[in-house]
Amino acid sequence: MLDLARQALANAHAPYSRFRVGACVRSASGQLYAGCNVENASYPVTQCAEATAIGAMVAAGERQIVEVVIVTEGAEPCPPCGRCRQQLAEFATATIRVHLCGPEGVRLTATLGELLPMAFGPKTLNRPS
Ligand code: THU
Repeated sequence: MLDLARQALANAHAPYSRFRVGACVRSASGQLYAGCNVENASYPVTQCAEATAIGAMVAAGERQIVEVVIVTEGAEPCPPCGRCRQQLAEFATATIRVHLCGPEGVRLTATLGELLPMAFGPKTLNRPS
C-alpha cells in the first residue's frame, strides 16, 4: 500500500501548495486503489489524495474500505482533513486503521473512529418508515 501511495504522490498535481499527498485504500476484496491530490488554479476546487483513491475504488464497483495509507513528505505525519475523514466514513467502519506515513514508512496509526468520533454517517439518515 505504501509503494502505491508513494507512486501516486510522485504524480500529485500540487503546483500551488507544493504539498504532495499520496493515498491508498484497501477494499474488502483486497484490491488496492491509489490516488494523489489534484490542485486547481481556483484553489477551493482542489481534490485531496484520499478522495482520488476513494473515487477509483467506487469507479471499480467497490464500496468497502478496510485499511488506508496516507503518505506525505513533511516532517510531521499528515492527518487527513475533515472532509476526507467524512468521505472515508462513507465507506468504512470506525475500527479500520489509517496509517499516516512519511516516505520511509508508517509514523502513526489511528482508527477512523479516533479520527472522526461521533461521525455523521449513512445510518444517521435512517428514518422511521
Ligand atoms: N491534502 C490532501 O490531499 N489530503 C488531506 O487530507 C489534506 C490535504 C492536500 C490538498 C492540497 O492539495 C494540499 O494537501 C495542501 O492542503
